Amino acid sequence: MKMSDLHVKINDLSKSYPSPSGDVIAVDHLDLTVPRGQFLAIMGPSGSGKSTLLHLIAGLTKPTSGSIVINDTDLSTLNDSALTRFRRRHIGMVFQAFNLIPTLTAEENVLLPVLAGFHDTDERKLQQALSSLLERLSLVPRRHHYPDQLSGGEQQRIAIARAILLDFATDAHEGLLLADEPTGNLDSANSRNICQLLRELCSEQGHTTIVVTHESRVADWADRVISFQDGKIVNDQPSLRKEA
Ligand SMILES: Nc1ncnc2c1ncn2[C@@H]1O[C@H](COP(=O)(O)OP(=O)(O)OP(=O)(O)O)[C@@H](O)[C@H]1O
Ligand SMILES: [Mg+2]
Repeated sequence: MKMSDLHVKINDLSKSYPSPSGDVIAVDHLDLTVPRGQFLAIMGPSGSGKSTLLHLIAGLTKPTSGSIVINDTDLSTLNDSALTRFRRRHIGMVFQAFNLIPTLTAEENVLLPVLAGFHDTDERKLQQALSSLLERLSLVPRRHHYPDQLSGGEQQRIAIARAILLDFATDAHEGLLLADEPTGNLDSANSRNICQLLRELCSEQGHTTIVVTHESRVADWADRVISFQDGKIVNDQPSLRKEA
C-alpha cells in the first residue's frame, strides 16, 4: 500500500479517564489503519470506547498515549488552533448528541461550518447544494425550524447535512467523515437513504467514512466491520455488503 493510500493510521493508542474508583480505560493500546476511500463500520457494546475513538480521531480529545496520523499529519504535532483548522478543512463529524446550535434554524445549522470559512466555494453553488441536500434528506419543509421544533430524526439528518454540505457542494474528494450512530433515531427508509448517501460519497468521491453503529443493516453498507470491546478491536472483517 502506498503511503498516500492510507488515510488514517492509529498506533498504540490509549485513552483513560481518571475516576474515584480508578482509571476508566476507554481505548486500550489500539492499532488501526484505514485506507483512503474505505467505508468502515465500528460496532460494539455500550461503553466499549467507540465514541471516544471518534473524538480522538477528530482531535477533540487528547490521547493518553499513542499516535493518530491523518493525511500524513500527526495530530500530536498540531496546537489547538492548528487542530481546529485541520478539522474544519479535513474532517466532517456527526456527533452522537447532534450538537446543533439551538438559536440557529435548521438551515443555518447546516451552513455553520461553511460560514466558519476555509473554503472558496461560491454562494450560488452552496445554495444549490444546500437545497438538493435538504431535498434528499426530506428536510425542505423544516429548513426554517429551530432544533427544539424538530423531531430527533430530523435533528439527526440536519447534523448529517452539516457534516457533508461542503463535500457535496464542491465534489470534494478524499474527505474524512466520522459519524457516531448517524441513524440511531431514524426509521428504516430514512436510514437507508443516509447509508446510500454515505456509500456514494465513498464510492464516487473517494471519501473515507467511519461510522459507529449498533445496527447491522447499517454495517451491511460498509466495506469493513470492526467489533469493539473494552477499548480493543476483537473482530475485523470485510462486510458482506448485502445491500447491493
Ligand atoms: N469524559 C469522560 N470522563 C470519564 N469517563 C468517560 C468520559 N467519556 C467516556 N467515559 C467512559 O469511557 C468509556 C467509553 O465511553 P464511550 O462513550 O467511548 O463508549 P461508547 O462505545 O461510545 O458507548 P455507547 O454505545 O453507549 O455510545 C465508558 O465507560 C464511559 O463511561
Ligand atoms: Mg457512543
